Amino acid sequence: MPPPGVILGIESSCDETAAAVVSGGKDVLSNAIATQHALHERYDGVVPEIASRAHLEHMTPVVREALSTAGTTLEELDAIAVGNQPGLIGSLLVGVSTAKALAWSLGIPIIGVNHIHAHLYSGLLGEDGDAPLPAVGLVVSGGHTSLYTIDHPFTATCIGRTRDDAAGEAFDKVATILGLPWPGGPLLDQLAQAGRADAHAFPIADLGEGSLDFSFSGLKTAVLYAVRGHPVGRGSDAFLQGTHGDWSETEKADFAASFQHAAISAIVRKVEVALERHPDAQGLLIGGGVCANSRLRPALEETADRCGVELRLPPQAYCLDNAAMIAGLAHVRYATGSFDEYSITASARVEA
Ligand code: KG4
Ligand code: ZN
Repeated sequence: MPPPGVILGIESSCDETAAAVVSGGKDVLSNAIATQHALHERYDGVVPEIASRAHLEHMTPVVREALSTAGTTLEELDAIAVGNQPGLIGSLLVGVSTAKALAWSLGIPIIGVNHIHAHLYSGLLGEDGDAPLPAVGLVVSGGHTSLYTIDHPFTATCIGRTRDDAAGEAFDKVATILGLPWPGGPLLDQLAQAGRADAHAFPIADLGEGSLDFSFSGLKTAVLYAVRGHPVGRGSDAFLQGTHGDWSETEKADFAASFQHAAISAIVRKVEVALERHPDAQGLLIGGGVCANSRLRPALEETADRCGVELRLPPQAYCLDNAAMIAGLAHVRYATGSFDEYSITASARVEA
C-alpha cells in the first residue's frame, strides 16, 4: 500500500489566506481560512498591495491553525502544495514563499497547483471512489468563468471562457449598482429571493452558434442603465442621473432577480452545449464562488439529470477560495511522484 499522502495545501491567490491538511486527496482533516473582506470593502474591490500585506500577517497563524485542527505536526506531512497560478502576483508570492520555506526545511516535496483547476477538484473532496471522468467542468468565480474537459487522471483543458467580466465580477458589480456592500454576490442572491425573475428582460449573450465563450458586460450595462437611466451628455462629460435610492426594496429585488435569472441562464446554456459536444462525459464538475448561488445550484442539478451525467457540486465551504482543493488536486501528482523544484515561482497568468 502506498502512503496516503498527508498534504498541507496553501492558498493566497486573491484575498483569502488559506491552509488545509488533506489526506489521500479526499479526506479533509482541516480547512482554515482568513478572509480580508473588511479591508477591501470600502474600495469595492480587492486592492493588491493591501492583499499582499494582509497575507503576510495571516499566513503563519492560518498554517498553525490548519495543523492543530488536523492534529498533525509538520514532521508528519508528506508534501506541501501551493496555488502558484493564476492570481495577484504579490499575493501568490506570499503563499509560494511560505510553501518553499516549509518544504525545503522539512525536506519534503513541493507541488505547485493551478488555482482554477483546483476549483474543478473541489466537488471531489470528501468523496469515496473514483471521480466521474472524463467530465465537463465549469468554474464560476470572481476572477474566472470557464468551461473545461477533464480527462484521467485530472487533466483540464479549457474549451470556453469569458470574453469580458467573470460571472462573480458581474454579480459584485450589479450588487454595487443596487447599493449593496462589496463583495455583493451573496447579498444579491439573498435580495433576488424576494424579487420576480421576469420583471425585466435582460439580455443573455449568445456569441454565435455553438460558441462556448461567455460575456457578462452587456448584461451588467443593461442593469446599470435600467437602474440609473441612460447616460446624459457625451464623452467624458456623460453622467447617469438616477441612483439606486430612487427604487423601493421591492423594485431592487426585481432588478436583482431578473439579473440573476439572465446570468444563470447564460451559464447553464453553455454547460448544456458543452455536454452535447462531449457525449463521452461521465461527470459535470463545478467550482468557484458563484456555485454557492441558491438558483444556480438547482439549475445545474436539473442540467446534469437531463444530460445523464454525475454532478459534483461542492458544499458551500469548498465553493469559495480554500486550500483543501489545492491539497486535494496536488495529491493527483503526489500519487505519481511528479513534484516541482524548490525553485518553483508564482505566475499571475496561465493560458488555461
Ligand atoms: O472562488 P471565489 O472565492 O474567488 C475567486 O477565485 O475569484 O469567488 C468569489 C466570487 C465573488 O464574486 C462572490 O460575490 C461570488 O463568488 N459569490 C456569489 C455567491 N457567493 C459568492 N455569487 C453569486 N451568488 C452567491 N451566492
Ligand atoms: Zn478562486
